[in-house]
Amino acid sequence: SIMKVFITRRIPQEGMKILSQAGVCKVSLWDSDEPVPRVELLKGVEGAHGLLCLLSDKIDTEVLDAAGPNLKVISTLSVGFDHMAMDEIKKRGVRVGYTPDVLTDATAELTVALLLATARRLPEGVVEVKNGGWSTWKPLWLCGYGLSGSTVGVIGLGRIGMAIARRLNPFGVKRLLYSGRTAKSYAAEVEGEYVPLDTLVSESDFVVVSCALTPETQGLCNKDFFSKMKNTAVFINTSRGAVVNQEDLYQALSSGQIACAGLDVTTPEPLPTDHPLLTLKNCVVLPHIGSATYSTRGIMAELSANNLLAGLQGTDMPSELKF
Ligand code: GLV
Ligand code: GLV
Repeated sequence: SIMKVFITRRIPQEGMKILSQAGVCKVSLWDSDEPVPRVELLKGVEGAHGLLCLLSDKIDTEVLDAAGPNLKVISTLSVGFDHMAMDEIKKRGVRVGYTPDVLTDATAELTVALLLATARRLPEGVVEVKNGGWSTWKPLWLCGYGLSGSTVGVIGLGRIGMAIARRLNPFGVKRLLYSGRTAKSYAAEVEGEYVPLDTLVSESDFVVVSCALTPETQGLCNKDFFSKMKNTAVFINTSRGAVVNQEDLYQALSSGQIACAGLDVTTPEPLPTDHPLLTLKNCVVLPHIGSATYSTRGIMAELSANNLLAGLQGTDMPSELKF
């Protein structure tokens, strides 16, 4: 009998096409660019064999219970999986597909763009040009920080962290430090030095967060962390907002404890427009667009559709999350 699939948002056509051509499932779609309301999600998954979701959908016990025993596969259009209750999913024997690798380059590029934009104060400069603040060329105006000769610290030298390191090194980085659970043999390619987190935080001119959100990394960047950073250091986060204690970051930025911060991820998302961080000139906030290139999002949609189909049919997934 035909299997039932629920998709929680409009996704790129590439993915929809694969699902319709496969002819193995009946798709019901939350046909909107806005998040599915919780009640509609709970209704939508009822009796579903497959669920295709986004990082903004909380997939918890309630959702799994609402889906019921038919559920074979959850395919998330993301590399992160902190939005899903993995223990509960495992208990139920549900397979999970995700989208690593295909978004690595796009996310690393965005991280470099955000780092340079933050350190060289591009958003401030753009505003000054528009509002008449640009009166003349001034030797001391809008100065920032450069990568050449600097020490860069990458927290979490995984797929994306490594891609960031590869891209930053050619800017003349002097030392590339990284921290995490284990040293990585592949770090040699970027001359990465494995150091304790404290060393990375205190010695880096640029601290780049690129780790997964886990119980160990939740709130990792807190008051103590920022107090160890240089007053001239730049803080960049393109992983998950919850790795950062935002009140502590606000204090560090407004007191001059650190120089500036660039965030592609926040808590919550979206960040309310009256949030204190948005009042700071030395904080650049982007709306979680790390993987947002046309081609990457298309490929993510294809991959998540193929993961979903494999889960429905009990075959090998192109990218199955082993947990
Ligand atoms: C983006 O944050 C992702 O997890 O894919
Ligand atoms: C800058 O434009 C310079 O000429 O130094």
